[in-house]
Amino acid sequence: MCGIVGCVGLPKAVRVVLDGLAALEYRGYDSAGVAWPDRGGIMLVRAAGRVGELGKLLADAVDLEVGTAIGHTRWATHGPPVEKNAHPQKSWDGRIAVVHNGIIDNYPRLKADLEGEGIGFRSDTDTEVVANLVARAYAGDLTSAVEKTLPLLDGTFALGIVAGDRPGLIVGARRGSPLVVGVGAGFHLLASDAAPIIPHTRRVVFLDDDQVAVIASGACEIRANGAAVDYACSEAAWSAEAAQKGGYRHFMLKEIHEQPVVLENMFRNRLLLPPAADADPEFNFPDMDFSDDYFRNVSRIVLLAQGTAHHACMVGRNMIERVARIPAFPEYAADFRYRDPILDPSVLVIAVTQSGETMDTLHAVRLAREAGCKVLALVNAVGSSIAREADAVFYLNCGPEIGVASTKAFTAMIAGLYFLALRMGQIRETVDRGEIRRRVNDLLGVGHRLQAALALDQPIRRIADKYRDANNFLFLGRGTGWPLAMEGALKLKEVSYIHAEGYDAAEMKHGPIALVDENMPVFFIALEGRRYDKVVGNIQEVKARKGRIIVLASRNDRDISKLADDVIRIRTESGIMNSICCAIPLQLLAYHIAVLRGSDVDKPKNLAKSVTVE
Ligand code: G6P
Repeated sequence: MCGIVGCVGLPKAVRVVLDGLAALEYRGYDSAGVAWPDRGGIMLVRAAGRVGELGKLLADAVDLEVGTAIGHTRWATHGPPVEKNAHPQKSWDGRIAVVHNGIIDNYPRLKADLEGEGIGFRSDTDTEVVANLVARAYAGDLTSAVEKTLPLLDGTFALGIVAGDRPGLIVGARRGSPLVVGVGAGFHLLASDAAPIIPHTRRVVFLDDDQVAVIASGACEIRANGAAVDYACSEAAWSAEAAQKGGYRHFMLKEIHEQPVVLENMFRNRLLLPPAADADPEFNFPDMDFSDDYFRNVSRIVLLAQGTAHHACMVGRNMIERVARIPAFPEYAADFRYRDPILDPSVLVIAVTQSGETMDTLHAVRLAREAGCKVLALVNAVGSSIAREADAVFYLNCGPEIGVASTKAFTAMIAGLYFLALRMGQIRETVDRGEIRRRVNDLLGVGHRLQAALALDQPIRRIADKYRDANNFLFLGRGTGWPLAMEGALKLKEVSYIHAEGYDAAEMKHGPIALVDENMPVFFIALEGRRYDKVVGNIQEVKARKGRIIVLASRNDRDISKLADDVIRIRTESGIMNSICCAIPLQLLAYHIAVLRGSDVDKPKNLAKSVTVE
């Protein structure tokens, strides 16, 4: 959480940093600020609230000939989101300014020590100790002052640091929080991810933990253990256009609509279809060199994730167990890592994460690797921490997901897990060849089915209008309908702030049914399939208690109208892939209700896209 940007060597660095903060705003939007060296001191401009508020204060400064600037957009941890707690934080003597993403765990003790030395503090932040420590160590060599400070810090950080008397220089450092350097002709940038860098250069360097970056207009040095190290540039995977709204009103809506293309790209990249209709499809996982024998001997799979990614793992569990016949356990990484989990090298750990930076997932990955497990990461953000620490990566290649509520990454995660399940089933011979071909053909048809689901936009908007004033919502489903119900509830509460719960419909009678009355909308996922009759039974029970019933049904299910107040019909042809098609109506319903209620859909209050603190 929090985003940092630095620019050195471009003529209007304040503008570059401000634009960069806008691109990083998904990481937090409680306050924002920019600092730049100015006549031997440091100019600091900060505002509570969104980057837009900061932009108003910087209306003139963006055109100044300023060659070096750092900036920050904040998701508040220490201290309320007021101006004094915004970053950059300056040292007590005004010589140093710091932007920081992460948490300095030992800041109370450091602060007490500094106060004991007579060094004053103005904010409630943990970051101010970094500014003061660097200033205390600073005698004209900023790199050395930073390198003296880093060993004193416990916790996580990505830092960008300037000194007032050293225009033309930024020192960055990371431990546990992401930091990317952009390498241009006569300029360098640093940022929490590549988004602010891509409009200027596509050449990037992903810093490792405990590395320091020293950037000037014409030079970039990456250091570790006090000495320069070799580094390699890579090409940023995303284009600048991919991070724009592209004519949509919100990123969330754009990203919902991108799903057919995202999945079709994945199929094209991951599937090598032989020309002969009866030949076996080949799966293309170039970044995964686990042997077939390894997969034959896997005893158990643990799926680690948080938030929406966890719901994708719950769907993935069903796919893996059904197709590959390996027991699979979706886990919240945060709970898993503190539980002293039982692991051995025969357990395959699959970490699923859009950002690749979720702190709990990252730590759970480390723990699993220490226990000797292989870790496979399903990740969207190329070069992210989890992608780099895992033994193998399956990139989702969704393009940047900017809306804080995850949409396209969710369906890509499900599809990715399904690919893995099919590949493991093929190796373990737990499904016959004909069945693999049939399932692969189903996958190939998903793009069309998703388009058909997107065409329901206006009917879903009408339903949204009808329920926009609800105070509560229940979402119920069985089988893969259960995690979909949880995801539907999560989407709705995230963006509309309506209290919503998602349950396995079988659990309804164990509690949630007590909430049902004529004011309670209950959204059922009731597609054709093995559990259909059971779900219809649950619908009857809600109807008997006068609940308002919305059903996501299969296209040919005409009878359901007799029970439901509102029906959304989708094409459902192949069991397990239906979950991907269900996601779209759930996402659209949440989106439209949120828009109708006037919420800030792309930046819901209190949330951040990337949870890099515990
Ligand atoms: C936050 C985001 C969610 C996301 C979750 C896990 O809560 O708001 O959209 O699902 O983190 O993030 P990850 O990047 O690990 O998928």
